[in-house]
Amino acid sequence: MSITRPSLTSEYASTTPLQVRIDTHARHSEHPDDPVAAVLAALALTGSEDLADIGCGDGRFLAQLAEQGHHGRLVGLDNSTAMVAAADTIPGIEGVLGDAQALPFADDEFDAVTARHMLYHVSDPYQALRELWRISRAGSRVAVSVNHPATCARTRQLVLDRAAERGLAPAVGMVNDVNSTTLPKMLSVVFGEVHIRQCDNALLFDTPEPVIRFAEAIFSFCGIDAASPHRSAILDAVTTDIHDWFTAHPGQCWRDPKGYIVATATVR
Ligand SMILES: C[S@@+](CC[C@H](N)C(=O)[O-])C[C@H]1O[C@@H](n2cnc3c(N)ncnc32)[C@H](O)[C@@H]1O
Repeated sequence: MSITRPSLTSEYASTTPLQVRIDTHARHSEHPDDPVAAVLAALALTGSEDLADIGCGDGRFLAQLAEQGHHGRLVGLDNSTAMVAAADTIPGIEGVLGDAQALPFADDEFDAVTARHMLYHVSDPYQALRELWRISRAGSRVAVSVNHPATCARTRQLVLDRAAERGLAPAVGMVNDVNSTTLPKMLSVVFGEVHIRQCDNALLFDTPEPVIRFAEAIFSFCGIDAASPHRSAILDAVTTDIHDWFTAHPGQCWRDPKGYIVATATVR
């Protein structure tokens, strides 16, 4: 049986798994939480800034800014063509294909720079941080968000266990060790003083279906590629596990702790 290994390229070849994860967090968080609003609060924008969102995904952060009447330039960069294509269709947004570690922008081009939930994918995160600094004008705000290290560990472990039964292990190189524990020091090395906002929460599900959808949306990080011949058997096993848990725990919710930080710095 041929083995197909997931990669960041395959994971982000389509916007769907990312959108399922974002929608799950929006609908099933224990406490109200809006990671876009958390970054916007940290940036305290006036509306006139030229802003670059690095690793912009489908562009919804920039779309929200445009809807709010932000009149500075809004640029979304991503190294996935699917993500850039999605961002580029949003009126007022410039979608740019590129790598966070070698940004196709001039020195001092922006007044605000964000890297939201993406630095943990980059092979040289210090190089990416130096690039954020390089493209930022003096006085710019830079905001970087990353997850707590054990975010959604319960659902992830369930999938990992079922993947391991079929000889699959998490793909190497998809996620590095940049998380809420390691990021503050890294950011201070490049930017100096750093301010941290911590957002602790949990996913909370009262029915099996959204847990199953979320579990499937993290398959690639657990070593299960979209084209893996084991994929449907693993999904069946995960589906059974989750249904069995709800049957054995009537009236209870599937709770999976999660969290992230928004780290901000001002460029001197
Ligand atoms: C978890 S998603 C986050 C998307 C968006 N920032 C958000 O918070 O919704 C990570 C994004 O980073 C992009 N990405 C990963 N590595 C990258 C790199 N080296 N350069 C630019 N973008 C990258 C992926 O394509 C993906 O869109």
